[in-house]
Amino acid sequence: MQRTKIADLLRSNDIGKPFTVKGWVRTRRGNKKVNFVALNDGSGINNLQIVVDMPHFDETLVRRITTGAAISVEGILQASQGSGQKVELLAKSIEILGDSDPDKYPLQPKKHSLEFLREIAHLRFRTNTFGAITRVRHAMIFAVHQFFNSKGFYNIHTPIITASDAEGAGEMFQVTTLDLENPPRDEEGKIDYSKDFFGKPTNLTVSGQLEGELAALALSEIYTFGPTFRAENSNTSRHLSEFWMIEPEMAFYDLKDNMDLAEEFLKYLLQYALDHCMDDLQFLSKRQQDEEKNKKEADRSMELIEKLKFVLENEFVRLTYTEAINILENSKPNKKGLFQYPVKGFGTDLQSEHERYLVEKHFKKPVILTDYPKEIKAFYMKLNDDNKTVRAMDVLFPQIGEIIGGSQREENYDKLISRMREMNIPEEEMWWFLDTRRFGSVPHSGFGLGFERMMLFVTGMTNIRDVIPFPRAPKSAEF
Ligand code: 4AD
Ligand code: MG
Repeated sequence: MQRTKIADLLRSNDIGKPFTVKGWVRTRRGNKKVNFVALNDGSGINNLQIVVDMPHFDETLVRRITTGAAISVEGILQASQGSGQKVELLAKSIEILGDSDPDKYPLQPKKHSLEFLREIAHLRFRTNTFGAITRVRHAMIFAVHQFFNSKGFYNIHTPIITASDAEGAGEMFQVTTLDLENPPRDEEGKIDYSKDFFGKPTNLTVSGQLEGELAALALSEIYTFGPTFRAENSNTSRHLSEFWMIEPEMAFYDLKDNMDLAEEFLKYLLQYALDHCMDDLQFLSKRQQDEEKNKKEADRSMELIEKLKFVLENEFVRLTYTEAINILENSKPNKKGLFQYPVKGFGTDLQSEHERYLVEKHFKKPVILTDYPKEIKAFYMKLNDDNKTVRAMDVLFPQIGEIIGGSQREENYDKLISRMREMNIPEEEMWWFLDTRRFGSVPHSGFGLGFERMMLFVTGMTNIRDVIPFPRAPKSAEF
């Protein structure tokens, strides 16, 4: 008989009809007369209850239905007498697809710490929490494409291996096939990269933006959604060495258009999650509340679904970096020396503690900061008339800090070249990028959304290593 997914069966009203389900056993309990098996196949957060009428089954077979084992069950759908579920499956025949050893299976039917689950990331998909996160992640990926497709943006694939390190400044992973024990050397004794695979040094990309700009200056509106790699040694709950980024790039957009798009995009994703992932969000909300029940009332987060709705219903606050610095300088924590990094006027690079103060304490809403000092931003951002600030925008979210970074781009060839010289970016390597400013240059803008940062916000998880299946972080590349 054809397999029915558990999520579909739980919604079904076909009482009295036969069905086949397959999945992994979460628990089995019961007595000599009847056993109850909780079965999950990943199609949803809820398990299907299988009722095993013991006199009809071989006891040695039932004993093999242990936590972690995979089984196939044929049975009749019936209204459930127990509370907690509408329907259950009365088993007629059970087949063991894969035995498990209950004593050795690392996932016991109890609560495990997230730290422990990270050590068994190959099995954590089988927990409620990671099942929910994985489904929400999928929904968000789908929503990203749906959003841009509906707006007529084209998805382009930008390279993962790149010879340009204009954005990377020392934070890139090198890609080489040279023998590291014995690399070829030139006359000066330096490593001879002409012998390397690509005939020059190459790295993993930190962003698809520069190539995205090339496409935007032909197709008008494009976006990339790819893996990016950063070798920064940031062992924090918000940084990964390998993460996914969505980078739209739009010709004829100024900074305001860019901010409007970013806000609309983020809200679209949140609305999509509320419309399509409610069961999982409810589970994640409860999980978060359990996690925080020992915290003081004031330290607890807003309930997850309420929080998503709150962001949806409110306009993001928009202000300049300079205005933000004023607020921060005069803030209580700054005056009392409570910030780890004190705010010392224009030019201070904002840390996550400052961003979170603005969002969580001062405005109590998402914030878009614009017009940062040129010194702390990338070379390609459009210079303002003050010659001091650039048309940058960072979107700051509660609990996360920076979730989006972007800007209007410098479209003027001469200004771009002079910024590159100031920042020691080799022009000869960037000839292709500069060409866009030589032939039909137009005002354009774009931004990058860190996909895992968005996932943190939507799921209420607090460590970025828990919202990507296989996290990569300094000294950590298991699985
Ligand atoms: O601000 P970033 O570095 O911007 C860029 O890379 C631009 N090229 C984007 C553009 O304009 N097209 O990174 C963008 C976003 C950040 O706001 C953050 O959400 C996320 O990427 N991000 C990280 N996420 C996880 N781990 C890291 N190490 C991250 N670094 C940045
Ligand atoms: Mg940034």
